[in-house]
Amino acid sequence: MASKLAPLVFRRAPRVFRQFQTPQWRSFTAKTPSRSDSLQVHRDSSDNNPSIPFKFTAQNEEIIKEILSRYPSQYKKAAVMPLLDLGQRQHGFTSISVMNEVARLLEMPPMRVYEVATFYTMYNRTPVGRFHVQCCTTTPCMLRDSDSIMKAIGDHLGIHHGETTKDGLFTFTEVECLGACANAPMVQINDDYYEDLTYDTTVSLLKALQHAAQATGAQPGEAGLGGEAGKGAVTGDDRNVKSGSEINKQGRAYEAGGVKVPTPGPLSGRKSCEPAKGLTSLTGEPWGNETLRTDGAL
Ligand code: FES
Repeated sequence: MASKLAPLVFRRAPRVFRQFQTPQWRSFTAKTPSRSDSLQVHRDSSDNNPSIPFKFTAQNEEIIKEILSRYPSQYKKAAVMPLLDLGQRQHGFTSISVMNEVARLLEMPPMRVYEVATFYTMYNRTPVGRFHVQCCTTTPCMLRDSDSIMKAIGDHLGIHHGETTKDGLFTFTEVECLGACANAPMVQINDDYYEDLTYDTTVSLLKALQHAAQATGAQPGEAGLGGEAGKGAVTGDDRNVKSGSEINKQGRAYEAGGVKVPTPGPLSGRKSCEPAKGLTSLTGEPWGNETLRTDGAL
């Protein structure tokens, strides 16, 4: 009998042990992993709480009318994203009061607006400096040494990503792909992309922005977080002063307060995302008519 049972025991034993080796449970976490530097939830603070009033300016109300006219009236909540963006541009960041005002205008439950604002990282729910420097570290940028760009920003500004300089001029954020991979590594500063960066060009860009901010009147300290000065120092009218004569040998540049600031785009001398070392295709004469089929099919 024992001899008949022995093969059965040997066959079953590994299965019994396997049960103990394979965990019969899966770990779970109640907190979502943080994918950005910003806090996932709102905390009342002195500069961001629901009792701070917020109203759109008369000029922005006109823009809101135009935005709402793009949607059927029963779907006006579809305008939540452009309105949040407008609120952020006016106020300097997307405060809880901005979100509540957007919810009121669009007749939405405030929670629906909070859901949108907390999902998209381009809504800054805490005050940012006058220049919001967002450095991309996703794979294409990382392969082209975004580490040195992160280091250049950290070294020059003396802050870690997720922080703002004491004078309120710069906020440094690490972000995921910004869609300019062909010109990696790159940073976004306010609305502008600066591409094909190196450690040195990044430092000179930051220096130029610092000098331009001081020269255009906003002294460090005056560029209060989230206040009037939080909307970008050298955008709009300032940028219109650039002209062909201001294009320097190192790359394109424009003047702001007498300071040369590199024009957004590639800082390597490339115009766009053409091959850095010249053409690699279409280098010969294009085919002539004689290469086409003579039977008229092409
Ligand atoms: S990976 Fe940096 S812009 Fe796409």
